[in-house]
Amino acid sequence: MPSVIELELRNDVYRRPLATALDRLGLKQGWRAADVGAGGGDVTVALARLVGKEGRVYAVDSDPARRDQVASAAARASQAQVVALTQSGEELNLPEKLDLALCRFLLLHVHDPLVVLAKMRDAVRPGGWVVAQEPVTSAGRIAGAPFSMPDALDPDVGAVLPALVRRAGLELVDAWAEAPAWAGPGPVALYLEAMTEVDPGDDPVILPPLVTVVARRRLVEGN
Ligand SMILES: C[S@@+](CC[C@H](N)C(=O)[O-])C[C@H]1O[C@@H](n2cnc3c(N)ncnc32)[C@H](O)[C@@H]1O
Repeated sequence: MPSVIELELRNDVYRRPLATALDRLGLKQGWRAADVGAGGGDVTVALARLVGKEGRVYAVDSDPARRDQVASAAARASQAQVVALTQSGEELNLPEKLDLALCRFLLLHVHDPLVVLAKMRDAVRPGGWVVAQEPVTSAGRIAGAPFSMPDALDPDVGAVLPALVRRAGLELVDAWAEAPAWAGPGPVALYLEAMTEVDPGDDPVILPPLVTVVARRRLVEGN
């Protein structure tokens, strides 16, 4: 399980794609949102800050250990409106319709991303937003050599994400890829070392690009 430091580093190095996506949405105070595959809660806490006291953020993860981890991250950040739940994305079932369902670094680990995206679509109100941020792992480079992630079921799922979102019946609103890049000491090297135990030294690193897809549930299904 990644430590809090690793998660903070991920939040640091991948903060720009998240910030761009949230800005693109115009996330508002009072919104209801879900962070699916919430892990340690970086994204959950960022969302909770934006939706404010009147909003609510469901942090959903299939690993029961994550519920306490997210709850304590939310408590440390004074974000009392976070509700942490143990649920799989394939069986997402929340007590109210959402304005936004978001996942980051989740779909690479699931057997059928389409099932999870369809559940996220059904969890939002008509016109509500679905955002997914997933890597193209092999497009990352250390000293020019491609990254690999043998533990992930589909480490390159980001490469097909826009098409998957359309196949899930969502309206594609925007999609792009962003990758942190660096050489020498700094957050990128620290992140890489924390995740892979490889110190890149002075070698140039391009971390796996994250493909972000911003999509909406159609107002009338079938259009
Ligand atoms: C790499 S972590 C990403 C955490 C977080 N989204 C982030 O970006 O920092 C993936 C998380 O997804 C969870 N997960 C894996 N498969 C899942 C599934 N089918 N449904 C819900 N959560 C799942 C794991 O337990 C883990 O916490």
